[in-house]
Amino acid sequence: MRRLGWKTRLGFYLATIGSAFGLGNLWRFPYVVGENGGGAFVLIYILFALLIGLPLLVTELALGKSSRKSVMAATQALRIQIGTLGVSGKWIGRLPVILSLVVLAYYSVISGWVLHFLMQFGVHLISSYEFNATQTFRGLLESGVLQIALSSVHLILASVVVLKGVQEGLEKWVGWLMPAFAILMVILVTKTLSLPSAPEALRFLFYPNFSKLSSSSILYALGQVLFTLSLGFGTMVTFGSYLDSEEHVPTAAFRITVADTLLSLVAGLVVFPIALSAGSIETQDPGLLFAVLPEFLLGLPGGVFFGLLFFLCLYLASLSASIGLLEVIVSNAMEWKRFGRTRSTWIVVGLAMMISMVPALSGTFLKAFTSGQIKVLEILDFGLINVCLPVISFLIVLLVGRSWSNEQLEANFVHQEKVESVALFPYWKWSVQVGVLLMVAFIWILQIF
Ligand code: PHE
Repeated sequence: MRRLGWKTRLGFYLATIGSAFGLGNLWRFPYVVGENGGGAFVLIYILFALLIGLPLLVTELALGKSSRKSVMAATQALRIQIGTLGVSGKWIGRLPVILSLVVLAYYSVISGWVLHFLMQFGVHLISSYEFNATQTFRGLLESGVLQIALSSVHLILASVVVLKGVQEGLEKWVGWLMPAFAILMVILVTKTLSLPSAPEALRFLFYPNFSKLSSSSILYALGQVLFTLSLGFGTMVTFGSYLDSEEHVPTAAFRITVADTLLSLVAGLVVFPIALSAGSIETQDPGLLFAVLPEFLLGLPGGVFFGLLFFLCLYLASLSASIGLLEVIVSNAMEWKRFGRTRSTWIVVGLAMMISMVPALSGTFLKAFTSGQIKVLEILDFGLINVCLPVISFLIVLLVGRSWSNEQLEANFVHQEKVESVALFPYWKWSVQVGVLLMVAFIWILQIF
């Protein structure tokens, strides 16, 4: 199958940043920072983004670019050999695709929540319909059917873009989406930073108080870095496979990492002043954003319009991230089974709809299994993002680090015109072959003991 490249360099950046920036930054980052005590966690998160996220991003993009294939096919010829023990890359390459499918399903349920609030604000703006934000959220959690319907609508919207093909669909779509995002976020930040709670929020977000870290904070920080940079899912391998051969992967990876980290911090600047004015943020669960924000927004002068803008921005972010997830599964399915794009997309969407019933029924049917309304969802989030994702990322780095020769590593990293790439090559090589593995293993050991 002939692979078309990105039409423009900007198209690649927009699509990768569009995939990286999503609910992970706006919904998950604030609640995870809240749960883990603020500033100290943010500091560890930034360190992990640079020391673990960045080398992993270079690895995934380079794997895609050099093989011109998606993750399953790209890893097929690779092999981990430790002494007499050998594991074929074929098995490892399947894991990110399976994970993407389950995460897409779970991500669609949260996207459905966003869609629900977006519609509530929209209807409120154009009619005399009034809504109580707290009751709306409670009602939503208590209705599994509504959540299934909303996540299905979301999946269908994402598939419409994916059906057009990544170059046609994604590039055009994110081309106007990202600038709109930036403008909305700037408006929102200027608004939230003038709130009386802003100084407290800034202190919470940036002052590192290490005594507030919990025993699982480092695991959360690692999971969050991987999730927000879309690593361990094969997404970046697929995006890299469409990359022009002239493009220097480490430069692209560095820009994406910095942009995504800044966007998370900006998201924190939007959410924390609002959340703090509404009450404590440290006791919150995945409901943080939805439990406090809409109510606060409704109380502001012009708040309905402001709320509509915020949820529109959040929804578009989650849609472009879902497109990234769906695209990776579809592109792998197309290469694997030689199915057409349309058939692959509908099969994947059908499967995702079925799986999404588990998180969607978290507050109703499945509530009996745990205590609390979103416990099943929380357990799923912890298992997928903090446990499965680091394991899969570890295996990908191990596979590439062990299989690629020195020349291959060099060819993927060094660009003679970029002196910094020559200077940093030994560090990158060490990172891929040893460093990232040691850091992740160390985090697991600390976690266990
Ligand atoms: N990075 C996205 C976010 O922060 C989530 C995502 C993961 C998207 C993997 C695509 C692939 O929301």
